[in-house]
Amino acid sequence: MTSPKYINSELSNQFQNAVKMSTSPSASFMPGGSPSQFAGSPPSSYFPAAASRRASMKTPAPKLLKPFATEDIKILLLENVNQAAVEMLQSQGYQVEFHKTSLNEDELIEKIRDVHAIGIRSKTKLTARVMAEARNLVVIGCFCIGVNQVDLEWAAKHGIAVFNSPFSNSRSVAELVIGEIIALARQFTDRSNELHQGIWNKVSAGCWEIRGKTLGIVGYGHIGAQLSVLAESMGMSVVYYDVLPIMSLGMAKQVNTLDELCREADFVTLHVPALPETENMISAPQLAAMKNGSYLINCSRGTVVDIPALIDAMKTGKLAGASLDVYPNEPAKNGPYFDTALNAWFEPLSKLKNLILTPHIGGSTEEAQSAIGVEVGQALIKYINEGSTIGAVNFPEVSLRSLTLEDENHVRVLYVHSNVPGVLRTVNEIFAEHNIDKQFSESRGDIAYLMADISGVNAEDIRELYDKLERTPFKILTRLLY
Ligand SMILES: NC(=O)c1ccc[n+]([C@@H]2O[C@H](COP(=O)([O-])OP(=O)(O)OC[C@H]3O[C@@H](n4cnc5c(N)ncnc54)[C@H](O)[C@@H]3O)[C@@H](O)[C@H]2O)c1
Repeated sequence: MTSPKYINSELSNQFQNAVKMSTSPSASFMPGGSPSQFAGSPPSSYFPAAASRRASMKTPAPKLLKPFATEDIKILLLENVNQAAVEMLQSQGYQVEFHKTSLNEDELIEKIRDVHAIGIRSKTKLTARVMAEARNLVVIGCFCIGVNQVDLEWAAKHGIAVFNSPFSNSRSVAELVIGEIIALARQFTDRSNELHQGIWNKVSAGCWEIRGKTLGIVGYGHIGAQLSVLAESMGMSVVYYDVLPIMSLGMAKQVNTLDELCREADFVTLHVPALPETENMISAPQLAAMKNGSYLINCSRGTVVDIPALIDAMKTGKLAGASLDVYPNEPAKNGPYFDTALNAWFEPLSKLKNLILTPHIGGSTEEAQSAIGVEVGQALIKYINEGSTIGAVNFPEVSLRSLTLEDENHVRVLYVHSNVPGVLRTVNEIFAEHNIDKQFSESRGDIAYLMADISGVNAEDIRELYDKLERTPFKILTRLLY
């Protein structure tokens, strides 16, 4: 195992001794940036005053924690996960095995046996059968948005935390929508298609600037809010509708009803999740409420728009254009599979003018893939090195602030257990002879997760704590970091 690498340049000198002392993974990083900078604050020359203030405050350096009773951390990365993640995980000193493709079930079972972590995308199915073969697995990173390829409940019940990256592609979606607003207003996909066929059709009727027009955003979350800022910077007015009261960015204005938004907006764009309440939330009545000659954009989920109703509204000229990136049924792979067999309305839809159809590419950019790599990579490192489950999709979310180099003779206890009465009493009896510096416990369904920092422990105490916790009847997984 190679020595862990410290990426936080500001603290690197303070860390050097610790690196020599321990081969355990590094616990220090911060969000954002490329793999080589992801842990770094801006160089101090950017903010000299702040840098000297920080230096005079002498913040104690985070301590490197070393796993007790565990060999070197082994990680299996499948499906060509982004290099940003590969480099981050390697820089922690983990043993990383990287594969460009997914593996068939037998190969997967063979490979998963000894690893502590696995990184996958959407093609690898982590079923109970596969995971049951893993002897050391503690964490799964889904380097994508969806997590239904993993049996989340089974994983949680066996102490395996699962992380994904739901919001790393928000900017990519927002930018695509901006492109679509202009493309629709200028009918430029039609002009481009015509010219591909040798037809010169120079028209200005029905083509508009977007400056001064109103954008109606339905769902003012990660994507909707980004879009709001971009649209205003191009001279649009923004109104938005959300089930939650959300503070507006810039001059955007929240409206009380979807109907109000439909009546005010020149462009309606949808950014809500797929929920029973959002199914067909844009159907005939909402389309009727929209302005004559307005536009509809859906880059959220395919269930949100009633497509036969949209076809009618386009045919009558009620809508001047529309753009769809998502559909009720989408092909599982690339190829000529988007047809009537998949969605009965394909024929009439495909014949409409000024209709942009894209194959669910809203979040598909190099930047989004890299951001997903960094976000999930960080989550894996945070869990392995510190025990933090913030952002886990199947686990109670628990975190404690880092131990520092000043915290000597400490052990961090990570204890996943069944959520039944009496656990805390038993665990605190085990801790009783030591000082509990901090402790946090949270439950989710049948499982609970406790993190505690215990001080005044020596090597023998750590062994004893571990053995006692392992023997408790509620134990699912015990990890100690010191
Ligand atoms: N096309 C793509 O490639 C692509 C990529 C990423 C995300 N998405 C989809 O975009 C959508 C939005 O993503 P996000 O990251 O902004 O989500 P988000 O959770 O950050 O925001 C969703 C917003 O919708 C609001 N909302 C929920 N139900 C509502 C309702 N009935 N009426 C009005 N508002 C409602 C929520 O309060 C929230 O503010 C999701 O469906 C997501 O799956 C698509």
